[in-house]
Amino acid sequence: KKLIIINGPNLNLLGKREPNIYGSLSFTEFLEEVKGKYKDVEIDYFQSNIEGELIDKLQETGFTYDGIILNAAAYTHTSIGIGDAVKAIETPVIEVHISNTFSREEFRHQSFISPNARGVILGFGLQSYELAIQSFL
Ligand code: DQA
Repeated sequence: KKLIIINGPNLNLLGKREPNIYGSLSFTEFLEEVKGKYKDVEIDYFQSNIEGELIDKLQETGFTYDGIILNAAAYTHTSIGIGDAVKAIETPVIEVHISNTFSREEFRHQSFISPNARGVILGFGLQSYELAIQSFL
């Protein structure tokens, strides 16, 4: 199986950014751990703070990969373009969030990704990503 995790804006700061909400582990540390645990799965990783680069990556991987795990971060709540890209591609997308966006501000309750995602996993910290990986096995 070939999967990719795509992370959106500010998620490069994981470990440093609001650790009370997002935890103190960096994403690269977490990724190493998870890759060691799921050795027969190929797990690629891409992060960008730029909306168009996220769309490019979805288009690039969205016809050949077996699964996409997407945390579009703040773009989740604003980007019709990323939502349309998720709809346009063939590879199933699992939307993930580290925090429970529904227990936070009202503006985080809307998602342009969810209507076109195969499923949504949120609120389990970095474990949300691992649960998404398991869903593709
Ligand atoms: C997030 C939730 C978003 O509302 C926020 O903008 C993020 C991270 C999460 O993983 O909990 O940057 O996607």
